[in-house]
Amino acid sequence: MATGMLHLHITVVMIFIFSMLFKNLLMLIGMNDALAKFRAKTKVIEMILGTLMLATGGYLLYVTKNMELYMVVKIIILFAVIPLGIVGFNKQNKILVTLASVLLVYAYLIAKTQSLVFNFGKLQPVESVIKFDGASPTDTSAVGNIINQNMGNVLANAKPIFIEKCAVCHGEDGKMMANGAKDLSKSEKTLVQRTHIISEGKNLMPGFKYQLSERDIQALAVYTQMLKQ
Ligand code: HEC
Repeated sequence: MATGMLHLHITVVMIFIFSMLFKNLLMLIGMNDALAKFRAKTKVIEMILGTLMLATGGYLLYVTKNMELYMVVKIIILFAVIPLGIVGFNKQNKILVTLASVLLVYAYLIAKTQSLVFNFGKLQPVESVIKFDGASPTDTSAVGNIINQNMGNVLANAKPIFIEKCAVCHGEDGKMMANGAKDLSKSEKTLVQRTHIISEGKNLMPGFKYQLSERDIQALAVYTQMLKQ
């Protein structure tokens, strides 16, 4: 339900942004007749889309309770864009409309990257993160013992992190499926896939690569595997 709602929200938002940019372009190149026609034709659709955007967004906000800074800023921007756009188009003011477009695209980008500055310069290759695959719990060689012992410590740290950051959606046992979350006790994902999802996020799951260290993310990936039954 929540995942479907997210996809609907993103689709509506994309259409809304493209329509806005298209109208902005018509205005900037002085095609005012075409603009007036396009606005008249899409007036009803635009109202439906606007309502859908707010309704799906409101629903998602309600279920995820996401009140991080970027989300708050995004919402403030959206409520500024609406009057800016309306006044801008009605007064045929290119500056106001362009400002509304820029703000709209900015709001989209901060939502997509979950960061006010698009996490610039902080991107790290996720593939280089996987170092645990070498050790298996049945490896009884000296090196294997050290690795497994080390892993024990790392996993001991992973549990409190999991309870703090992940249990809201997954539950302490991984079985809770709040906000569209997958049941971790039944997940067939590999360690690499888990690490990737925890880092980057997927659908309604936020990415954690800017909040947690590579080590913690690896440990969480292993920890979620241990929740499997
Ligand atoms: C806001 C809710 C939420 C939080 C918090 C959350 N997850 Fe998720 N998680 C999800 C959703 C939703 C999915 C399913 C994504 C999809 O559509 O495939 C998921 C999927 C996963 C998967 C992949 C399971 C599979 O079989 O596809 C793993 C592993 C996972 N989460 C681990 C974690 C870990 C570890 C944390 C904490 C660091 C965490 N999650 C925090 C919502 C959440």
